Amino acid sequence: MNKIKKIISKKNKSKIVCLTAYSKNIAEEVDKHVDIVLVGDSLGSVLYNYTTTRKVTLTEMINHSKSVRLGVKKSLMVVDMPYKTYETKFSALKNVKKVLKETKCDAVKLEGGRNIIQQIKFLTKNKIQVMGHIGLLPQSVKGKFKSKGKNEREIKQLINDAKLLEKNGVFAIVLECVKTPIAKKITQNLNIPTIGIGSSVYCDGQVLVTDDLLGLNETKIKFVKKFLNLRKYINQGLKKYALEVRSKKYPLKKHSY
Ligand code: KIV
Repeated sequence: MNKIKKIISKKNKSKIVCLTAYSKNIAEEVDKHVDIVLVGDSLGSVLYNYTTTRKVTLTEMINHSKSVRLGVKKSLMVVDMPYKTYETKFSALKNVKKVLKETKCDAVKLEGGRNIIQQIKFLTKNKIQVMGHIGLLPQSVKGKFKSKGKNEREIKQLINDAKLLEKNGVFAIVLECVKTPIAKKITQNLNIPTIGIGSSVYCDGQVLVTDDLLGLNETKIKFVKKFLNLRKYINQGLKKYALEVRSKKYPLKKHSY
């Protein structure tokens, strides 16, 4: 079974686990535990301190994805298309082809629903595997991040967008910060899986930014659970190294040529 079919076949059977990676070494470890490795444009804020993912460039996404490719062996590798790289169906196809060719990823993710449906349709018609992303869309937010599905208009739009994306061939949809009952309803209404982030346990899968859950990236976002304080362990190792260099315990003869 190919990787995409395998992901879809998990719906209503087992949870889909997805995490971000921005480089080879982390990708290698993430790959052992997940179904999908996402090279998210969240790398803009996590690695470069950008105040918005709108600043992330295609070159940055391609370079990080090339590194991630070296670490991903078994999982499906998805790359985020950055802001303004899919404004028309033609620019979308041109840029996606460049990403696929240079990074050898399996699929791409685009943010939006009905507003980008011509692009989605064109990409899937051209046999490109596309992951959708609705709810809170970081590339569209100016100002504060807010959850989605709070009023009738938003609820209707979310449900319609999800259906429209499915109809136009996406293989899964990320639901970001979508209110629990709406995420549940969307998930039940679709034949393709939903991958939640801040969108409850009712989604078919879950995604998080790896740096957040490992405690490498300090964040106070409600949906993040810190599963490890990796900075503590990194500091223990670094402190030991500095101490040994300063006290001449390292390097020993066996470490020297
Ligand atoms: O950029 C990203 O990391 C994402 C996920 C958080 C869904 O889009």
